[in-house]
Amino acid sequence: MNKPYIKTKLPGPSAARLIKQDKTYVSPSYTRIYPLVVDRAEGVWVQDVDGNRFLDFTAGIAVNATGHCHPRVVEAIKTQAERLLHMSGTDFYYTPQIALAKKLASLVSQKGERKVYFGNSGAEAVEAAFKLARWHTRRELNLAFYGAFHGRTMGALSLTASKAIQKKHYHPFVPGITHIPYAYCYRCFLNLCYPQCEMGCVRWVEDTLFRTTIPPEEVAAIFVEPIQGEGGYIVPPPEFHQALYHVAKKYGILYVVDEVQSGMGRTGKMFAMEHFGVEPDIMALAKGIASGLPLGAMVARSEIMDWEAGSHASTFGGNPVSCAAALTTIEILEDSLMENAEIQGERLLKGLLELQNSYECMGDVRGKGLMVAVELVRDRNTKEPAKDWRAEVIEAAFRKGLLILGCGENSIRFCPALSVSPEEVDMCLAIFEEAVRESIEKAGRRSK
Ligand SMILES: Cc1ncc(COP(=O)(O)O)c(C=O)c1O
Repeated sequence: MNKPYIKTKLPGPSAARLIKQDKTYVSPSYTRIYPLVVDRAEGVWVQDVDGNRFLDFTAGIAVNATGHCHPRVVEAIKTQAERLLHMSGTDFYYTPQIALAKKLASLVSQKGERKVYFGNSGAEAVEAAFKLARWHTRRELNLAFYGAFHGRTMGALSLTASKAIQKKHYHPFVPGITHIPYAYCYRCFLNLCYPQCEMGCVRWVEDTLFRTTIPPEEVAAIFVEPIQGEGGYIVPPPEFHQALYHVAKKYGILYVVDEVQSGMGRTGKMFAMEHFGVEPDIMALAKGIASGLPLGAMVARSEIMDWEAGSHASTFGGNPVSCAAALTTIEILEDSLMENAEIQGERLLKGLLELQNSYECMGDVRGKGLMVAVELVRDRNTKEPAKDWRAEVIEAAFRKGLLILGCGENSIRFCPALSVSPEEVDMCLAIFEEAVRESIEKAGRRSK
């Protein structure tokens, strides 16, 4: 069995040399939180350029759904690459794009008809949804959520309300977007408690927003993540989406669901929205869809995707190699990995909940499937966010050979490949506990 193996100081000599070159030539806008220079990877194991081995609970930001370099995905890529690399699906036809569209349409809905638009990324999928919502409804206003991350192109960034740095110096944004609070029950903006609140946050949309500032008949769409991703892996209450969907339908507003991070089996179902019993009008997909090859997809009800030839397209979108990787990825997810995500997700969540009993700083533990997070606080009563502490824990885990990432202001996310084994989950829990304990001792803080 593999184990983390750290044989140099971090970064090692080769990594340090490459990072120096990176600083000279690569955009400084990227946020590298620890000095990992990857050489190769397999399953949930990553090897750096100095031969150090890490247990990867990031999956390249929730992308490598089937694990790094899954042999069946690699084979599908090789076979397709030898046949056709590019032809532009916007101007010509080819089999992998048609086959993937058919597959996605059937996955999103067994009942109604769906059509698929292909781009290269999550932002492009959201951007397409944004344009289609305007095209179809001819309405100009949109709602999105505080804490939401929808991407960094100007349209998608206008919908994003995650971190101020992402928007700094880029104003003005696309007009007509209003951000509203998400159902973040651990920190309810109305100071209410679930379930006594009876979905006060959704009632607020209708009773306050639509009555005072936003005429609902001018709203094209509500953009929402089933589970907020970059915002902190926030799982809303079971009835949140149905209640909000009901409000949307009352006013002819499209329900646009961003499954870029939560989709493709990560939560134990193909799409996280299935946990909430809502069939969206439009869905955005990317990340895990092709196990690491760039691909984004926007799936809409056929009657909504009524735009004309020439109204939207992308040269590389729906690239044949990416589509072939996606078709094989979906096969593997359906074979066993979706089920594994549910089982290992429960194991991970249970393990973290047990740790929460011993560590005061683990304010909230939440998640679905392999989309799991711990929110770190200085004090359980005040819930004061422990931002600097989060950085220390992530750094300590890295030095011990575990790769994890932050999300939200003060949370740590766990989003390994869906192929992760129970032993690997246990290893992650053990290293994470060591990292938390070490950070507590270092900071001289108290554990319960
Ligand atoms: C929910 C969600 N939507 C959209 C995006 C943007 O995707 P991309 O970085 O591929 O443009 C992300 C990326 O983290 C995401 O998590």
